[in-house]
Amino acid sequence: MAYSETAIHQVIEVLSKTLANTYLLALKTKNFHWNVKGPNFHSLHLLFDEQNGALVATADEVAERIRAFNKPAIGTMTEFLKAATLKESPANYPDAPTMIAALVADHEHIIEALLVDIEVLTGLSDVGSADMLTGQLQEHEKMAWMLRSHLQ
Ligand SMILES: [Fe+2]
Repeated sequence: MAYSETAIHQVIEVLSKTLANTYLLALKTKNFHWNVKGPNFHSLHLLFDEQNGALVATADEVAERIRAFNKPAIGTMTEFLKAATLKESPANYPDAPTMIAALVADHEHIIEALLVDIEVLTGLSDVGSADMLTGQLQEHEKMAWMLRSHLQ
């Protein structure tokens, strides 16, 4: 990859934030897989687990893209919390509709961030990362739709 060091630095910053946000949302989704209650327990328990798996796979893709630039991929909770723009809500066990609404809001947050990030990466001529994040944008839109469908 023939990118300048300045461009690579900016690309890694974007990818590290995306990795952190994705991992945080994966954990928030797993937390709800564990703690969900109510009449839709079974379907939500399964849906949250499935989405956790998809998000962990998405995070893995981002981490390995960072490694393709021969840079270290962050992989600790401390670094994820520092790099993420998503927020955690510890010691909070809401009812199922509130859980779903919180996850939808987080997917929407990531979608908004990705729209900007894709432009930035395209401007840096990193079409590979821009293309990867475009695919992930569609996955977040699909996951948000599946979550929203449980509220209707
Ligand atoms: Fe489980």
